[in-house]
Amino acid sequence: MFADTKKLLLKAQQGKYAVAHFNINNMEIVQGVVAAAIKLKAPVILATSEGALKYAGMDYLYAIAKTASEQANVPIALHLDHGKDMQTIKKAIQIGYSSVMIDASHEKFEKNIRLTKQVVALAHKKGISVEAELGTIGGAEDLVSSRNIIYTDPEKAKEFVQKTGCDFLAVAIGTSHGAYKFAGKASLRQDILQQIKKKVKVPLVLHGASGVPQGLVAMAEKYGANLSGVKGVPDAQIKMAIKEGITKINTDTDVRIAFDAGVRKALQTAPKDFDPRHILAPARDLIQQIAEQRIKIFRSVNKG
Ligand code: G3H
Ligand code: 13P
Ligand code: ZN
Repeated sequence: MFADTKKLLLKAQQGKYAVAHFNINNMEIVQGVVAAAIKLKAPVILATSEGALKYAGMDYLYAIAKTASEQANVPIALHLDHGKDMQTIKKAIQIGYSSVMIDASHEKFEKNIRLTKQVVALAHKKGISVEAELGTIGGAEDLVSSRNIIYTDPEKAKEFVQKTGCDFLAVAIGTSHGAYKFAGKASLRQDILQQIKKKVKVPLVLHGASGVPQGLVAMAEKYGANLSGVKGVPDAQIKMAIKEGITKINTDTDVRIAFDAGVRKALQTAPKDFDPRHILAPARDLIQQIAEQRIKIFRSVNKG
């Protein structure tokens, strides 16, 4: 049985820490992330994007996540990330996800409200919570793309939450998806976040939050990757954002780089070994390591 995302986030809001959301695409990612959660006795949100569902199928990812949650002695939630297609959102609600995101942030304000309200009505009937987004998070991904960042307007955020009844809100404060987040100095608009927090009481979500750790990048590059120009959100900015009220933090890119580094190393160091288990197990271990690092950062804030 999956954990209740809303309960996890309300508890985090009270405790002034953030719950980690990790995007999942296959069994190794789920196992790496869940092993980290178990080791640190931390709750975790497993999230499937529409791209992940297209790749692996909702039934497969649901079954893998469910098995992980049944074997773990920590709360594991399953979340639909950046839901845009109504049929997919409905299927996630019906199959038993803990929460769904309706991402209509690319639409005009009124249409975003209308679509979000529709999803809230469907999801709440089944006791499932809803994440919505206002403003646009930059970056280009598989099925999630928006080039320019439009910061969330705090006053509009208040109106949006009141009118839609969404349970948590993704805000745009300068992050972007992917590995190339900042051309120059990395900085988030913590001032906008502060204003949003004053006006909005539901838990706030930070997308595009990967740290793109140098060690991992160096390892991937050592074994052949070309990641020049990558830059993530510094840990200090993440901690500040948690202090200002962020309670759910989304990480995908760091998991991807860990996977890439692990696979590249395995292939290069053992060219005669073609056993998929030997190729993928080191990637799974690296994913566990990066997930542990992220969870530790998210929990360290209230300890000063
Ligand atoms: O927020 C976006 C995630 O990184 C998902 O990316 O659509 O390529 O799976 P994806
Ligand atoms: P990153 O690309 O920074 O990992 O962000 C992932 C994300 O926001 C998923 O919704
Ligand atoms: Zn996102």
